[in-house]
Amino acid sequence: MPDFIIYNTTILSMDEGKPHNVIQGNLHIKDGIITGIAPPSLYNSTENNKRETALIDGSNFIIMPGLVNCHGHAAMSLFRGIADDLPLHEWLIKNIWPKEFRLKKEDVYWGTMLSIAEMIRSGTTTFTDMYFLMEEVAKAIEVSGMRGVLSRGMGGIGIMKKNAWRETNNLINNWQGKANGRIKIILGPHAVYTCSPDYLKKIRDFAAKVNLPLQIHLSETKWEVDHSMKKYGLTPVEMLNNLGIFEHQVICSHCVHLSINDLRIFENKKPGIVHNPSSNLKLGSGIAPVKTLLEAGLNVGLGTDGAASNNNLNMFEEMHIASLLAKGINNDPTQIPARTSLEMATCKGAEILGIQKIGRIKEGYRADIIGINKKRPHLSPLHEVEAQLVYSAIGSDVELVMVDGKLLMNKGELLTLDEERIMHEAEKRAFRFKHKGITNLKTSE
Ligand code: NI
Repeated sequence: MPDFIIYNTTILSMDEGKPHNVIQGNLHIKDGIITGIAPPSLYNSTENNKRETALIDGSNFIIMPGLVNCHGHAAMSLFRGIADDLPLHEWLIKNIWPKEFRLKKEDVYWGTMLSIAEMIRSGTTTFTDMYFLMEEVAKAIEVSGMRGVLSRGMGGIGIMKKNAWRETNNLINNWQGKANGRIKIILGPHAVYTCSPDYLKKIRDFAAKVNLPLQIHLSETKWEVDHSMKKYGLTPVEMLNNLGIFEHQVICSHCVHLSINDLRIFENKKPGIVHNPSSNLKLGSGIAPVKTLLEAGLNVGLGTDGAASNNNLNMFEEMHIASLLAKGINNDPTQIPARTSLEMATCKGAEILGIQKIGRIKEGYRADIIGINKKRPHLSPLHEVEAQLVYSAIGSDVELVMVDGKLLMNKGELLTLDEERIMHEAEKRAFRFKHKGITNLKTSE
């Protein structure tokens, strides 16, 4: 692996010690680690060979930490556009689950590869996944060079039931810490409406035994809360609290419908929260009370959820929507400023996932970084870097992506993936499920 100097560049460090943290300088990377930021200077290409260091001209870039996607189901990209404009339970139970039963290993592999290509192109360097046949996802991470936090979705019904324990054990035994430490395995109880209290207890005890965090869909819809109240007399949050689940590190996705008591429990137990604004809006699930959660001192990260309910995996869009949504529903333009959205998408997300030394550009941190081409009309003039990244930038402005000191994209070209083949393999498999087709115009003789 070569060492790198990205010279004469604009760096958004997200370093907590510096509130206004935009620096002009040279970023030094050695053995996959950020070794420092030096004052700007110019290099010429002949120095390259002498130093065995790759020099990258960063003058057109904003370099920032790679984005951390805290919730998703990568292989669901195969179902992108297959069942839109439906409420969650009709979408999931009638449309998605029957198709998921038919998925084979290769489908999950190529669907995940498709998502990884999309995520690299839009600046994500770490993603979280909860699905099944997860060893295929681990393989895709190994090949692509991405970083991932993986769990086998576990539940008492649907595809989650089949082979859940066996696959979870295999994932832990075969993949924990693999791909040079880029793979982290956690446990994935799907939700309170798909896991009985006894099943959740079993997962809780297993989490204690293997000392692993959990991720769960929590209070995503009003239906979920009503169902839990009717069945158990408890909200989903109260149920997890009664079962002692919050004594472990828990990543709670969605958290849209919360009672006062739920918030009290959160304030006390401090689980990680993942806000998925696009998915919640598209499925009409509601809007998570992010302002209240942040005021309660909780760590909030951002997620895309799967591409079948979003319908893309573009974290720039999630930052944009998170900030705008909070301002709109609170009638307050000061809510979720650009800086807060950037934190949710980088350092806070990394903290929630329990990954050390990513999410900031700082000496000693892993070199998970992205370069945004700032020479674009919609980013000009660049008065305020943080605001422009959240309110003006788009995912396709990302032209350089590095994970663990390895370039995955340079000059807009994917270096570890054969994008054409990935799209071909993914489309071939996706069209087995449904091909709406595009009407060909008939030529008249
Ligand atoms: Ni989800």
